[in-house]
Amino acid sequence: MAHRWKNNLSADDVTSEALFWNRRKILAGLAGSGLAAATGQSVQAAEGEALTSNTWEDVTSYCNFYEFGTGKSDPSLFARKMTTSPWSVEIDGLVERPGAYSFDDIMSEMTIEERIYRFRCVEAWSMVVPWNGFELADLLNLAGVQDGAKYVSFETLYRPNEMPGTVYPVLDWPYREGLRLDEAMHPLTMMATGIFGKPLPNQNGAPLRLVVPWKYGFKSIKSIVKITLTDTQPETSWNMANAREYGFYSNVNPNVDHPRWSQASERVLGGGLFAKRQDTLMFNGYEEEVAHLYDGMDLAKFN
Ligand code: MTE
Repeated sequence: MAHRWKNNLSADDVTSEALFWNRRKILAGLAGSGLAAATGQSVQAAEGEALTSNTWEDVTSYCNFYEFGTGKSDPSLFARKMTTSPWSVEIDGLVERPGAYSFDDIMSEMTIEERIYRFRCVEAWSMVVPWNGFELADLLNLAGVQDGAKYVSFETLYRPNEMPGTVYPVLDWPYREGLRLDEAMHPLTMMATGIFGKPLPNQNGAPLRLVVPWKYGFKSIKSIVKITLTDTQPETSWNMANAREYGFYSNVNPNVDHPRWSQASERVLGGGLFAKRQDTLMFNGYEEEVAHLYDGMDLAKFN
């Protein structure tokens, strides 16, 4: 499948695989791999030096997955209880072929590729992740989007006996997110099934999660069981919890602060005491690719 997206990150930007897998195997083949990503070829993993001073602990134990607790290490401690096989995704609403799509059937239809994306949490930390997965558009086309569809809503698994965090009404469970249809169909928007060439660990949203690299991380909903095509803007968990702080769009924007902190810069994950701070980029660095989606919109208002 030909993809129009051009990668502008290299292996030097990748949060080291050591962060995830505690070994010195990195995706050396990712250097200058924009071409590979753009043509949809998977990128070869190769032995090499760790690229950053990050530790494995930093990323696998520093997760947000509130169904397993609100502490950063709760997901890595408790998400292993989540059953991820068998798994299916219900696709319904304004689609030609509604139904339960099994994870295995989805995987047999999709071409898995590797993409290095910046990932910026609304809490002002960031990392660079080599995801494995496919474009969300390919999945939506499999189900066949009807003409009247304007939005896509997503739901995470809600299984209280496997998700200790759901006893707390931190959010209105199940975790829900949404995109406008054009955002969902954008070639940068992907469904991730892996990181660093391995299946997604449970705490990172196994077996499949959304990744929308120009939006704050909370839009990248994990462990998806339901996708609904609608003609009205869907309700989303964070927006329902606090609309003033978490807008429906939530595009990364250094010029629009969170009501309680600045969004102008971010802490790069890892590095401990020597953690870098860097300026946050408009649309998280994907301005060229996505700014046109918001032409004429007041980004401070539609935050
Ligand atoms: N998805 C679900 N179902 N539950 C969550 O709590 N947290 C979000 C997002 N997706 C979350 C979720 C937030 S706030 C962020 S920053 C990212 O997941 C974190 O992804 P990571 O833990 O893989 O870094």
